[in-house]
Amino acid sequence: MDIRNDVLRQLKNHRPGYSLEQPFYIDKDYFQLDMETIWYRDWLFVGHDCEIPKAGNYFTLQIGDYPVVIVRGKDKLIRAFHNTCRHRGHRVCTQERGASAKLVCPYHQWTYDLDGSLVFARQMDESFDKSKFGMKHVHCETVGGYVFICLANEAPDFAPVREKIEPYMAPHRLWEAKVAHQNTIVEKGNWKLVWENNRECYHCAANHPELCRTYPEAPSATGVQGAADDPVISEHWARCEAANLPSKFDMHPDGQFRVARMPLIEDAESYTMDGKRAVRRALSDDVTISHIGTMLLFHYPTTWNHMLVDHTISFRVLPISAEETQVTTKWLVHKDAVEGVDYDIEQLTHVWNMTNDQDRQIVEENAFGIRSPAYEPGPYSELHEGGVMQFVEWYTKFMVDRLQGDQAKLSAVA
Ligand code: FES
Ligand SMILES: [Fe+2]
Repeated sequence: MDIRNDVLRQLKNHRPGYSLEQPFYIDKDYFQLDMETIWYRDWLFVGHDCEIPKAGNYFTLQIGDYPVVIVRGKDKLIRAFHNTCRHRGHRVCTQERGASAKLVCPYHQWTYDLDGSLVFARQMDESFDKSKFGMKHVHCETVGGYVFICLANEAPDFAPVREKIEPYMAPHRLWEAKVAHQNTIVEKGNWKLVWENNRECYHCAANHPELCRTYPEAPSATGVQGAADDPVISEHWARCEAANLPSKFDMHPDGQFRVARMPLIEDAESYTMDGKRAVRRALSDDVTISHIGTMLLFHYPTTWNHMLVDHTISFRVLPISAEETQVTTKWLVHKDAVEGVDYDIEQLTHVWNMTNDQDRQIVEENAFGIRSPAYEPGPYSELHEGGVMQFVEWYTKFMVDRLQGDQAKLSAVA
């Protein structure tokens, strides 16, 4: 039985407002189909411009079967390449990050320029044409200091993403920030469980004592409904927009990405135990008011973010297997902020380190229960889990559209 038909049938029969059937969270073939249908075909957030500020700076990552390298060129442009040598396939860059005038494959030293062209391949035949063996390009776009890539041969149009998120991100000037700290954890759960957990704060009061000191658990802040009717939120938007900070809730019609600037609790300005700023030096000189709350950006399937007055926290989701997901968190501060003077790493990272670990436990216990043969999809809370429903609806529609589109193409060829 073709797995595609099976998945398509189940998605079409999915009961709205309910969690997905068990195989969507644990089955290896379903996972592979997620990879092929979403992860290998759509735009993915991979990292920040400011992590590779100079020509020759690079970082690598693994997306399913694909090793990728992101490099800053001599012309300052950021490019992405398949990290597989055109000689016999060795990974060209084997480190997580580095700096190099050229990219040299460690196996037989084929040497690539920072634009991917092959410039040196020793002792090959006279007839060997170097111009035919450059590193393969991966689509790459940068917006507001964030690097996105797409592994597909033909990438979806990036313009709608740029148009919506750039004005909200720009005041934070993240392209010239610095990463003060980062960490990567592996959560033993499917990537969709990581997202479902992220898209609601129904669980916050009981699980996140540190975060709840500053982050409002009200569904109007996290969710997809009601924000404009909340007087605290609409007053916040008006005040921020008067200071040139785009703020109103804005989601793309297909539900894949959204921006909104939400107030924190009472006087809080940052995710610290007392709500005070964690970084003395403000993140951006373009932000001229205090108490701007958090600019919430998500883009499925890879990233959610909090942009605050003193720092920004980015989260990157990468699936490892059907039941393992890597989550990388980065704390960005002003490039001139000095550790030990302007900020203390423990104070800066405490709340989200605790929150991430609490979320990891939740996701793992969620996965544990879903593995039970007794699991069956359960109903989401209309009041608190609108964001989860929105994610599941996006996933379902996206998969159905693509799988049906592929079938239509195949039958047109046949
Ligand atoms: S595989 Fe890269 S130089 Fe041989
Ligand atoms: Fe959480």
